[in-house]
Amino acid sequence: MEEILINGGNRLEGKVLIKGSKNSILPILAASILATDGKSIIYDVPNLKDVDNLIEIIEYLGVKIERKDNMLTVDATQMDRYDATLDCVSELRASLFLLGPIIARFGFAEISQPGGCAIGIRPIDLHLKGLEALGVTFEKTHGVIRGRTEGLKGAKIYLDFPSVGATENLMMAASVAEGQTILENVAEEPEIVDLANYLNNMGAKITGAGTNVIKVYGVPKLKGNVHTVIPDRIEAGTYMIAVGAAGGNVLVENVIADHLKPVLAKLREAGITVIEEFDGVRVISDGSKACKGINIKTMPYPGFPTDMQAQMLGMLLCSEGRSYVTETIFERRFQHIEEFRKMGADIIMVGNTVDLTGTDRIYGATVFATDLRAGAALIIAGLYAEGETRVGNVHFIDRGYDGLVENLKSLGADIKRVQK
Ligand code: EPZ
Repeated sequence: MEEILINGGNRLEGKVLIKGSKNSILPILAASILATDGKSIIYDVPNLKDVDNLIEIIEYLGVKIERKDNMLTVDATQMDRYDATLDCVSELRASLFLLGPIIARFGFAEISQPGGCAIGIRPIDLHLKGLEALGVTFEKTHGVIRGRTEGLKGAKIYLDFPSVGATENLMMAASVAEGQTILENVAEEPEIVDLANYLNNMGAKITGAGTNVIKVYGVPKLKGNVHTVIPDRIEAGTYMIAVGAAGGNVLVENVIADHLKPVLAKLREAGITVIEEFDGVRVISDGSKACKGINIKTMPYPGFPTDMQAQMLGMLLCSEGRSYVTETIFERRFQHIEEFRKMGADIIMVGNTVDLTGTDRIYGATVFATDLRAGAALIIAGLYAEGETRVGNVHFIDRGYDGLVENLKSLGADIKRVQK
């Protein structure tokens, strides 16, 4: 069993290069199975467990994938299976992205029902309802979802909630449905736009990605193409917050600042210096104790991202005054609160709002990651806690961060990964 050890107190100096977006490459990998002609070459692919697991599932379906450093070559022309029912499927929510593409390709799909996780029950009703509107019928038995269609037909679909995954699944299926599809009240995240650009370069006809209405004109076939994944805005925000917490002066490179507006605004509101430079964003801070308390409410993009909620709290534990952080996206994304309290944080929950009073200091403790962002948040707190912090369940961190420990070490943190 591995754990991450941090001795708090070191400032962070230098620069860090952000990798390709986890939440972009996962749907893009799923979309690549729609290419019945030619190969796709995808650049800036991060080295993450979630990516490895999705590649394993897609290869099982008969897709040939070659990896060279951060470049993937994907050849789906010989794909010959429609049953994504390996054990790892139910553990990887992103495998749900395969549902639309497999049905679009074969008219039939079998997929293990993805499980819930620490942050919520993670229902899939919006995915299924949207695909049913496109002409799919489903049955669910013993944890396996079977979908069948006589042919996907365009439809007008309104999403009850701007679900990122459902928007992506429906955009992929509609790309090769007959006729026009209008998707309303959809998610507007940058990863949706990246996926739409990839699909359009494959021959799809998608407009409106990045707004709350997406229109798709179905085409008979899609072909492989070349794509570079957008930078990971959540990874970038995590390092910016780490500087806010530990103090220092760091240039975060390969960042699209426009994708991080709410995070930059909240860092500045906390009194942190944030400078948008030509090749990245520079963050200068005197650490958590120099931060002012702030109020945050997580919202669908372009609001403050739920994936940055835990990290922001991790930065504010010794800030001046009071902070209120409300989580509106996931019903249980607060398991890290208990872990912060082990470190001496003065933090309580009132409904879905965290009420945090900055304390004079926090102490190193043995804590456990409950999801990948909570894991990053505990490391962030450990950067300025007095003494040693031991973070367990590091497998969560490996799902979404490529080289987090190495990068923080190169910036000056006293951090290492050890066998327990
Ligand atoms: C994506 O998850 C991201 N994952 C999540 O990032 C991110 O937190 C989330 O979007 C919100 O931004 C990937 O892109 C791989 P949703 P997804 O569907 O698509 C409810 C991380 O840390 N909902 O937008 O699963 C759902 O319960 C991960 O990188 C339904 O009710 O999120 C939740 O309350 C964590 N029915 C809300 O919508 C559905 O059919 C948002 O979920 C689908 C979702």
